[in-house]
Amino acid sequence: MDSRKFYTDANRKSWDEAAPKHRAANQEQLLLDVKKSDFNPLADYLLESLALVGVKNKKIIQLCCNNGKDVLAVQKMGAHSTVGVDAAAAFIDQGKELVEAAGLQDVMQLIVSDVYDLPKELAGQFDIVLTTVGVMSWMPDIKDFFRVVSELLKPGGYYVVEEMHPVLMMYEPDEKGKSRPLHSYFRKEPWKDTDGLDYFNHESYDAKPCYSFQHRLDNILMAGINLGMSLKHIKEIDRDISNFCQDLQHQEAVPPLGFTLVMQKP
Ligand SMILES: C[S@@+](CC[C@H](N)C(=O)[O-])C[C@H]1O[C@@H](n2cnc3c(N)ncnc32)[C@H](O)[C@@H]1O
Repeated sequence: MDSRKFYTDANRKSWDEAAPKHRAANQEQLLLDVKKSDFNPLADYLLESLALVGVKNKKIIQLCCNNGKDVLAVQKMGAHSTVGVDAAAAFIDQGKELVEAAGLQDVMQLIVSDVYDLPKELAGQFDIVLTTVGVMSWMPDIKDFFRVVSELLKPGGYYVVEEMHPVLMMYEPDEKGKSRPLHSYFRKEPWKDTDGLDYFNHESYDAKPCYSFQHRLDNILMAGINLGMSLKHIKEIDRDISNFCQDLQHQEAVPPLGFTLVMQKP
């Protein structure tokens, strides 16, 4: 097994294990909320990026869509049709329940797949590829991830990103829960975590190992630029968009906490 597959397989198992905990925290309310015509959990800064490219009548795919709530919102904003992809079958099952509750089965498709191993027939089909917060740090290879994004897009299509800022990966909570910068921004080796992925209740459990990766902002941008993609928009965000280091947004010296990005395929 190559090392990338080792990491993505381990992460899939860890996310599948976390899915029942996320379901308990969310699913009941989401099943009610997605029935509303104005259901939209997307943050204002992401809506701003989507408005730049326009979603009406577009074919849109979200990678690492988790339970699909974000791509479902984009469908409700007037997309022609949408596809969500996630490696964790247990999250896609939750997403399918949401799609059915919203009555959007005819225009939405949710697929279980590793992003590095997508069905070939998806290539070149989409006006927009979307990723929302908490995706890039799961990617062992950021250059190859951008290659996947680019292959999915039609010529002239857009990659729209909402992401936690890589500066955040420097921080860990100390014994009092205060976030401290402990890791180099330029770290190369992955982090291994066995505390679990319950980022709603922040409950630690004896979890299957998962692995995350530091991708500097320059490496993220260059991964797209080296494929010929052009930078259309970038915005750094001073709010905690990842539920990861909430205290940082309230301190006086606030580091960048998130970013949005729009890149266009030639
Ligand atoms: C933090 S969650 C994304 C949450 C999303 N922003 C939302 O709010 O719904 C990350 C997701 O990426 C998925 N994932 C991680 N690595 C993946 C891979 N190689 N291929 C496909 N999905 C992957 C996980 O299963 C998980 O559902």
